[in-house]
Amino acid sequence: MSAAVHILTLDGPSGSGKGTIARAVADKLGWHLLDSGALYRAVGYAAAMAGLDLSDAEAVTRCAQQIKIAFRDPKDGGETRVIVNGVDATDELRTETAGAAASAIAAIPAVRQALVDLQWSFRKPPGLVADGRDMGTVIFPDAPYKVFLTASAAERAKRRYKQLKEKGLNVTLASLLREIEARDARDASRAVAPLKPANDAVLLDTTGMSIEQVVAKVLSLVQA
Ligand code: C5P
Repeated sequence: MSAAVHILTLDGPSGSGKGTIARAVADKLGWHLLDSGALYRAVGYAAAMAGLDLSDAEAVTRCAQQIKIAFRDPKDGGETRVIVNGVDATDELRTETAGAAASAIAAIPAVRQALVDLQWSFRKPPGLVADGRDMGTVIFPDAPYKVFLTASAAERAKRRYKQLKEKGLNVTLASLLREIEARDARDASRAVAPLKPANDAVLLDTTGMSIEQVVAKVLSLVQA
């Protein structure tokens, strides 16, 4: 791994705005982007498609070891497509069902281990913005820039509601809030790589902040 590659880790709970912020900051800096949540979603999806029991650690680990995940940016500049084992699964991966499946299989230590090299392969010049739960604590502990984004659960549920509605998905605010709280509790309490800020991360509570304000704040940390 080259020391010349800049790394910014952006960790935080679901709906904290990490995905949107990470994309915007990576675009502004001209850096690569790692959406590590998409990798866990892809494994959960592939395991479900193969008819596996998501609590069968051995079978899900084999699935994670064999999975082929590719990210493709459409030429028209639209949303990045996620290709899982040769199939475009972008739409399936963004559902709350996929998020819950991801959170279940992400608690299996060997699954996390199977995805480490793939995550490191995103570390390319001139820099990388890595978005997830354990980017600053486990995957890139030596990153010089680390941010932990939070927002109240109610605000995160509202943001996710708006996002999913815009994409035409049928959801209710109350069920989203319940799902977000359940997923946070599971992510924060698991034994391996639990959701928590790195000791050297800057904590940023984005409740009441606009996307532009958060992007500006994160950029100011990198450029300082
Ligand atoms: O960020 P996103 O909502 O796509 O992540 C889906 C799930 O994947 C999370 O709830 C978490 O359980 C898991 N995940 C993880 N470590 C990461 C990224 C995501 O455990 N670095």
